[in-house]
Amino acid sequence: MSQTVLVTGGAGFIGSHLADELLRRGHTVRALDALSEQVHGPAAAAPDFRPDYLAADVELVRGDVRDRDAVRAALDGADRVVHLAAAVGVGQSMYEIAEYTDVNNLGTAVLLEEVVARRDADRPVEKLVVASSMSLYGEGLYASARGDGGTREVPPRPRAQLEARDWEVRDADGEALTPLPTPETKTPDPTSVYALSKYDQERLCLMTGAAYGVPTAAMRFFNAYGTRQALSNPYTGVLAIFGSRFLNDSPPKIFEDGRQLRDFVHVTDVARAVALALEAPEADGETFNVGSGDPRSVLDIARLTGEVLGKSDLDPEVVGTYRVGDIRHCFADITKAEERLGYRPQVALRDGLDELAGWLDTQTATDRVDQASGELAARGLTV
Ligand SMILES: NC(=O)c1ccc[n+]([C@@H]2O[C@H](COP(=O)([O-])OP(=O)(O)OC[C@H]3O[C@@H](n4cnc5c(N)ncnc54)[C@H](O)[C@@H]3O)[C@@H](O)[C@H]2O)c1
Repeated sequence: MSQTVLVTGGAGFIGSHLADELLRRGHTVRALDALSEQVHGPAAAAPDFRPDYLAADVELVRGDVRDRDAVRAALDGADRVVHLAAAVGVGQSMYEIAEYTDVNNLGTAVLLEEVVARRDADRPVEKLVVASSMSLYGEGLYASARGDGGTREVPPRPRAQLEARDWEVRDADGEALTPLPTPETKTPDPTSVYALSKYDQERLCLMTGAAYGVPTAAMRFFNAYGTRQALSNPYTGVLAIFGSRFLNDSPPKIFEDGRQLRDFVHVTDVARAVALALEAPEADGETFNVGSGDPRSVLDIARLTGEVLGKSDLDPEVVGTYRVGDIRHCFADITKAEERLGYRPQVALRDGLDELAGWLDTQTATDRVDQASGELAARGLTV
């Protein structure tokens, strides 16, 4: 059935791809987006700015999720809501603490109050889906060192160990632990202000949805990549940052030894997962990992990106420093989304990177990576 879906943050990277997916499924899409300059660049200062990649059929409303009147107006006539608007950046969140908490936590609170206020309206909100994040896990799950098939949840690596440039997660005997796919049942243990705010957004939505009878699902995205990711934003999006470096003929810089494992999921797979959760009653009250289930080291990803861009001569620079708030390994167990939502990642990494390379060739990017690293170092946030 065709419905009107309000997507907060709908002009951003994931939001614009989600809009395409929802339009394809016959829905009407309205985007509420503050069009932040950090994401959209200086052109976003113009009052009539609209990202050129945003589908023409999307109704774009410029507004802030913390602005109650803007949210109320945007909700008018919306049957379903996907909440993506957020300040996004692990490192930056560690010094812009008030800003991240304000946009992410307070913004979600304002949205929820307005959703709840509509419950006696002619068209109450029938469903809410919120973007959560793998970052809330902290470290991923590990195998027990006893080799008995058991699993272990581990605390952050001690600072003294990181200062000694020893990167792996170890047990009490100093044995490196083997990482496992992380399921939704792993206890959250956020290690950055950003991660904590994502956990807060998730819990606020699930708790309020349950209290007021608004069916709600939370989607824990892993590392999304693809076209339209903000290339000149040095605070988020590992692949966009690597792409921006290569475009400027500089090698990507990699923290630790580059062997940390992550889960890179194509943005169209993320969009499909959200659309499935938006439609499936089985998603209500639940959290879902949205990843590819295919772990890759950050160094491999950097090399592959150089390869598809024809810049293999620019060997990634492994800087051997640690960024406060980073974890060693985390990749998704996607069984729950597969079984309950019928989610299947469709884009293989190599295909996704080829597509990304084609798009990068058409882009220019300002490389602000050194500036961003400098901001962290000046505050003692790299070791
Ligand atoms: N990209 C990833 O790998 C990833 C991973 C985990 C979770 N997420 C989550 O997914 C969501 C979307 O992320 P993205 O990668 O598309 O980021 P993005 O920065 O491209 O998009 C976010 C959008 O929100 C808008 N926005 C920022 N502050 C706002 C405010 N106060 N009011 C209204 N709009 C505001 C921005 O202008 C932007 O268009 C976020 O909630 C993020 O935390 C993303």
